[in-house]
Order: sequence, then structure tokens, then C-alpha cells
Amino acid sequence: MFDVKEIRKLFPIYLHNENLTYLDTCATSLKPLRVLNKMEEYYREYGVNIHRGVYKLSYDATLKYDEAREKVASFLNCKFDEVIFVRNASEALNYCCLTYGEQYLNSGDEVITSELDHHSCFLPWLKLCERKNAFLKYIPLNSDGRITVESFLAVLTERTKVVALNMYSNVMGYRSPIEEIIKICHERGIICIVDAAQAVPHERIDVKALDCDFLCFSGHKMMGPTGIGVLYAKKSILKKLQPLFYGGDMNNEVTKDSVELKEIPFCFETGTPAISEVIGLGEAIDMILEIGYDNIHNHTMELYNYTMDRLKNIEGITIYNKNPELPIISFNIDGVHPHDAATIFDENNICLRAGHHCAQLLTKWLNVIGTLRGSFYIYNDFNDCDKFVNTVKNCVEFFKKINGE
Ligand code: ALA
Repeated sequence: MFDVKEIRKLFPIYLHNENLTYLDTCATSLKPLRVLNKMEEYYREYGVNIHRGVYKLSYDATLKYDEAREKVASFLNCKFDEVIFVRNASEALNYCCLTYGEQYLNSGDEVITSELDHHSCFLPWLKLCERKNAFLKYIPLNSDGRITVESFLAVLTERTKVVALNMYSNVMGYRSPIEEIIKICHERGIICIVDAAQAVPHERIDVKALDCDFLCFSGHKMMGPTGIGVLYAKKSILKKLQPLFYGGDMNNEVTKDSVELKEIPFCFETGTPAISEVIGLGEAIDMILEIGYDNIHNHTMELYNYTMDRLKNIEGITIYNKNPELPIISFNIDGVHPHDAATIFDENNICLRAGHHCAQLLTKWLNVIGTLRGSFYIYNDFNDCDKFVNTVKNCVEFFKKINGE
């Protein structure tokens, strides 16, 4: 049984911040005590380097690190050596571009992304395309702000080499038709990169079923620590890639004019990695699976629907996303800069994100300077929803008075 009261007790931040209403999980999730404990356990009990030491403590640390990689692999339904640890989803997305793109993109080739996407998904390709004299094309959005298979087909050509897309929009909460797009791409030998940063907190991903070539996500949005991200890539592709970084721990034999790389995935991880963060991520995966994605979905969508039912009666606000698949509300108080409105929420201990959310093509498409965004997760309850709705009402009234209406 899912009991939000019990769930909230697992997050120590609530002990330190009375009356906190945290509605910014899309930016980062709150961290459960068990993740913090696992990380601290590493530092306190066996906090030495991995792979290098020929002593027991180092073997222990290596074992825990490898166990966490096993957990990620089993979580994604891939092999141990298809998981590469990086700092975050942005770094993973850059890694795809700076390895696969650098090696295989040629002048005149085309890369497809969309106006719905996060900057991290397409900016690396924008810069690579500039350098390589290649072209970056954007899937146009339909009237709701979604991408469709038809709009994807409208920009697909014989010269398309790579498609890089968010699985879910971090502003609209829309799920893109990623399965169909991957299928179409693979019929044409096109490589597909999936940004799953907003997906992993809400949906179990099976990379084999999805059949993506690369998949990227961060630990910190799924109750794991900051500073750790995952790059999944098919082994057949990794075999063809040169590492981006060279240095310690990624090679076997080095001479004055050659380097023999370690096997995959170790050749793609240079220097001392984020050991405690990797272990913390493993713990977050255990927790998310124990809670269950069905419970996460049902609870957060219930909160979303409850809130939307109450917001729809309030005049003076604009809500930009319709029927999202993620529990996200992107909105504005009419005539008010989202940053100004956010300060009122902050005064009521409500954390929202305000601005362009690293998706400026979308805010331009919406023709706004930015939006306020509320996003729900497992630790939110109906009290959070009521507080949020009341503050929206008060905010509308407050700015009406200020504007002399
Ligand atoms: N990309 C994160 C967000 O949407 C930081 O807030």
C-alpha cells in the first residue's frame, strides 16, 4: 500500500524545513535518507579508491561500485558493459555527440531534434553541425506543443544520420512517440539518442525493448545524488567509439607512442569516478523499484488531476500544457513575470521553477518569456496541492491590486 505520510518520513529535508511544499522534482528530486546513508557508509567504512588498490578495502570498494553498475544494467535491461558512468544527463548527451557524432557525422549530413527539447539534447549537435558543415533540423510542434510521427516524417530525409530527442518534455510533460520514431530510424540506419532524464523517475525503461542506440539520464532526478549520470549505449556501437577522455585507469599498456585501452566500459571512464554517487544511485534504484512505478504514476497523477480540477476555475492564469503524461503544470499568472510570481510562492514555502527551463525554443514557441512550473512526486500530498492552488489564487489577487485592476 502506498502511504504518502510514511513516504515523507523517508526524506530528512522535511525535518529541516517546516511546511515545505516541494514542487520542483523536474529540476531535482528530494533525497531519501537511505541514499544518504549508503553514500556516507562508503566514506566512513571503506572510502578508498577502486580498481587500483591491491588491498582488501579497495577490492570491497570496487565490488560495491561494480554492484551498482549491475543494478543500473538490470534496471535498464542491458549488459554490465553497456553502462557508462558520467556526471549527469547533459554530460551523457554531450558524450554521444563528441564521440559518435565527431567520428561519424560528415559534411551535408542532417541531425534531427525538436523545438520541444531541452538544450542539453540539441546544443552539442548545434555546435558539432557548425564545425562539420552539417545541418540541425527541428521537428515542428503541433498546436498542443507536441511532436508527432507525421511531423517527424516531415523533416526526415535521406541525409538524416542522427535523431536526438527527449523522451518526456521537462516543461510540458509530454511523452514523445519515441518507439515509433526509433523504428522508423532503424529501418533507415539512423542512430537514435534518447534523453530519459525526466523519464526515469516515472517510467521503467527497457532499453532492449525501446531499441534506442544511446540513452542518457541523471541520478539526481530519481532520488539519487547529484554528480552522477548514466550513458547507456549498445555494445555494438561502443565497440566502434574512441573514448573522449584519456588518462588514468582507462588503459592497460602505455608506451611513448601508443595506448592500449581497457575493455568496455572501463575505457570510457577516466580518472577516479564519483564512487559514493554511483553507490547512492544503486540505492535510489532499489528504492524506486521497491515503491513501484505503478504507485508512483497513480499517486502523482492523482495529485496532478486534483490540482488541475481546482486550477481550472481560477481566472487570470494561463496553463500551457494539456493532458501531459507527466505530473507537470506549466503556467503563468497573466501579465506577471514568472520570477515575480515565484517569489510569492517562495514566501509560502512553495518551491516552483520559474523561467525557460533550459528549453528556450519551447518558450519562444509558446511566445512567453518563461513559465512557472510545478511538478509532483511521491512525497507530495493533497495538502501541497491545496497550498499551491490557494497561493495561485492569492497571487492573482495580489498582482491585480498592484496593477491597479
Ligand atoms: N532540466 C532540469 C529542469 O527541467 C534542470 O528543471
